[in-house]
Amino acid sequence: MALNRKIEELREKKKQILLGGGEKAIEKQKAMVKRTARERISALVDKDSFMEFDLFIEHDARDFDMDKKSLAGDGVIVGSGTINGSPVAVYAQDFTVAGGSLGMMHSRKITKIMDYALKMRMPLIGINDSGGARIQEGVNSLAGYGEIFFRNTISSGVIPQISVILGPCAGGAVYSPALTDFVFVVDNISKMFITGPEVIKTVLGEEISMEDLGGARVHSELTGNAHFFASDEEECFAQIKKLLTFIPRNNRNGAIAVEAREPDGKFDPEKIVPDDPTLPYDVRDVIRAVVDKSDFFEIMEMYARNMVIGFARLGGVTAGFVANQPQEMAGVLDVDSSDKAARFIRFCDAFNIPIVTFMDLPGYLPGVDQEHAGVIRHGAKVLYSYCEATVPKITVILRKAYGGGYIAMGSRHLRADFVFAWPSAEIAVMGPEGAANIIFRKEIMSSDDPEETRGKKVEEYRKKFANPYVAASRGYIDAVIEPGETRACLLHAIKATAGKTVKMIDKKHGNPPF
Ligand code: HXC
Repeated sequence: MALNRKIEELREKKKQILLGGGEKAIEKQKAMVKRTARERISALVDKDSFMEFDLFIEHDARDFDMDKKSLAGDGVIVGSGTINGSPVAVYAQDFTVAGGSLGMMHSRKITKIMDYALKMRMPLIGINDSGGARIQEGVNSLAGYGEIFFRNTISSGVIPQISVILGPCAGGAVYSPALTDFVFVVDNISKMFITGPEVIKTVLGEEISMEDLGGARVHSELTGNAHFFASDEEECFAQIKKLLTFIPRNNRNGAIAVEAREPDGKFDPEKIVPDDPTLPYDVRDVIRAVVDKSDFFEIMEMYARNMVIGFARLGGVTAGFVANQPQEMAGVLDVDSSDKAARFIRFCDAFNIPIVTFMDLPGYLPGVDQEHAGVIRHGAKVLYSYCEATVPKITVILRKAYGGGYIAMGSRHLRADFVFAWPSAEIAVMGPEGAANIIFRKEIMSSDDPEETRGKKVEEYRKKFANPYVAASRGYIDAVIEPGETRACLLHAIKATAGKTVKMIDKKHGNPPF
């Protein structure tokens, strides 16, 4: 056959496969306001940068008439491209082909691109849109998932792994996203659950819609499984691209530094924290007041709002921000906020991103619910992650720093490299009211006017302990600074810690309180 005939043949073969599951299935996909897998990849990567691998992969299942079926690309598209000019590996499940179900060859395509991403040390982005294990392929499908989970785990901390849920992601399939670093969901499109509504109805007799069981909002607000919520696919891809500007492509490369920019001047650090320590404020305004361009990229915005996490830049350098949020439950630490902070700290540590902590919390959330939900175990994760992190750790105490909360939120004692405190800082075992009631109880009760005495004792305690100077006199903080000096101090600390080197004790690995 002449070469041009062969080229024609290649083109024809490709054309067939590029049709995916065919017109009808594509129409159905569009009716659900979903893009096709190929459209999604094009929207995600830089123009003309994608090279597809394994287009001609075919399944070799025989049972249930599978030998009579050809499935285009076996229901998944894989390859590499660039985003913002930096290489990424991508797979996108094609729901138009057998519901994007995962058979053996489908999983092999995914695991091959995962191996490639790990070897080349580039981020992996998985777009999930699948009915789960391909029922006709039985245990081979399950084996495929196991192979994916294994690679998710060994790649963790080496390359960033991003999961995008753009359709169903059901049953054990959810554990691949759950093992990755960032999960993106889209309103009305993403559906994630272990057991679906039908099983729940059969087993428990309860009726629930897929959306209420495991829709995008559920995972963004309630379960904490999702890190980014978008109202449509376009917004979701924009979020992924923005995230990739902040994080490095692997654990050996630092994040790409950009030109330093001043904050936009809309936020005055002197005016954010109210004089009255009982009043709330939005800690994100403090972050915006001090970071480059006032650009704070928040993660898990809708979950455990009493803790704020996200990325921003200081002098062009990416930093991970962890901050108590006084306008939400006074910024207490509880089960969910502990989990949220701890995993983020570990991400930053794994990928050489300095951690900046803004502290303002009255302590751990008291109550039977929290105790029984395991606040001891979950709270311990925050301590563990700060202690083991060897990246630069910079802490600013804005206001309340009480009890175990003070220790946990990146204190000097957990090896913060720089600890700054604003003059509004109150560093003590507990708040003045609680403390006075305990240590002066007898005096208060036996006085002629207990209320007046209580007031005096609270004031006495506040003067003595509710300030930064006792901690400063012991060297637990390095400098008491004016709010307006915060950016300059952070820039100094980021520069000073750039060469930080810590040798941890040799061990296989620790045993964090998961
Ligand atoms: C084979 C599947 C499939 C599957 C869907 N399809 N899921 N084929 N194995 N798991 C096929 C359908 O037969 C159909 O083929 C096409 O995909 C589109 O599916 P529809 O049902 O028409 O689409 P829709 O109405 O949108 O419903 C989507 C769905 C539903 C909610 C995902 O298909 C569904 O409930 N599927 C089964 C989900 C499930 O229970 N999966 C197993 C989970 S257990 P045709 O030819 O008609 O177009 C699991 C274990 C993993 O995954 C364990 C890892 C450790």
